[in-house]
Amino acid sequence: PWILLVSIQPEDYPYDYEQLSENERLVIRFSHVVGEDTPKGMAARKFAELVKERSNGYIEVQVFSNGNLYKDGEEMNALSRGDIQLIAPAISKLTEYVPEISIFDLPYAFHSLDEVHEFVETKAGQTLVERLKAHNLYAISLWDSGFKQMSNRIRPIHHYDDIKRLTMRIMPSDILEKQFSSLGAFPKKYDFNAVYNELQKGSVDGQENTLTNITSKNIYSLQDYLTISNHGYLGYFVLFNLDFWNSLDEDVKQLLTETFQEVQEWEWKLTNQLNKETLQKIENCGCIELHYLSQEDMLEWEKRFEPLYNYYKQNYGDEFINALPKYQT
Ligand code: LMR
Repeated sequence: PWILLVSIQPEDYPYDYEQLSENERLVIRFSHVVGEDTPKGMAARKFAELVKERSNGYIEVQVFSNGNLYKDGEEMNALSRGDIQLIAPAISKLTEYVPEISIFDLPYAFHSLDEVHEFVETKAGQTLVERLKAHNLYAISLWDSGFKQMSNRIRPIHHYDDIKRLTMRIMPSDILEKQFSSLGAFPKKYDFNAVYNELQKGSVDGQENTLTNITSKNIYSLQDYLTISNHGYLGYFVLFNLDFWNSLDEDVKQLLTETFQEVQEWEWKLTNQLNKETLQKIENCGCIELHYLSQEDMLEWEKRFEPLYNYYKQNYGDEFINALPKYQT
């Protein structure tokens, strides 16, 4: 099963982990789909390092990146089977389980990452997190990737009407689908690890993602136009299999919880820094035509997306929408 060992109790640390065989340690397998040089990739490794150090090697977090172990569509099943214990999927990918969590996908729901963090702490935000438990998922942390930008190979996107008739890759989420179809575009769902190939084959004209995802998978080399629209949040709930979590000793839970708190702070700062550096890199490469939406443009786009908010409210009520920081006075 999940814990490959348990002859040694946490209160027995410190132990010299080098002297322990793999099945005498607590092994936690953490699978994710992005590159190592992204906020999620780096935070996963940082977490593994700190946990190893603090448990003196008793807890070993094995990180599998780039979808090498399990891809998008597979990691959730692998988690519920107990083949892995930890994943950090984009929140959009959780809408299949808790549809109302798609509030995070509403365009311009948040105007800064601080607003996202604030929302998650509200009663409404915590209700959403709690609802994951019915699916045997325990969300221990929130990691950012940042705000999504839009790229495509057909034409520059300055106005939302420029998106019309473009075929755009999306993550599986009802709201993301509507975000594009309501503009007259054609959304298509593909796994993250398929995006590069699908763009290359021409099955889609464009896509939306954060800058670090766009560069780390070299997506921008296949695209001619990039609009800095900051229209949607992309972040992750770091999820344990709840049964696995419940099976852990209290000391281990405490160590993991505290380390996640620290890594979350670190990850949030890192995301800001990497997004700035990546934008600089894209500006300098001169390899893609960049366009920045102005504040006024963004307000106009936000207004254009109001029907999506109504759709969300009709389906899930006012409770979550009303708690968005932008509606607080
Ligand atoms: C995507 O599918 O575009 C993202 O969710 C990838 C990721 O995990 O950041």
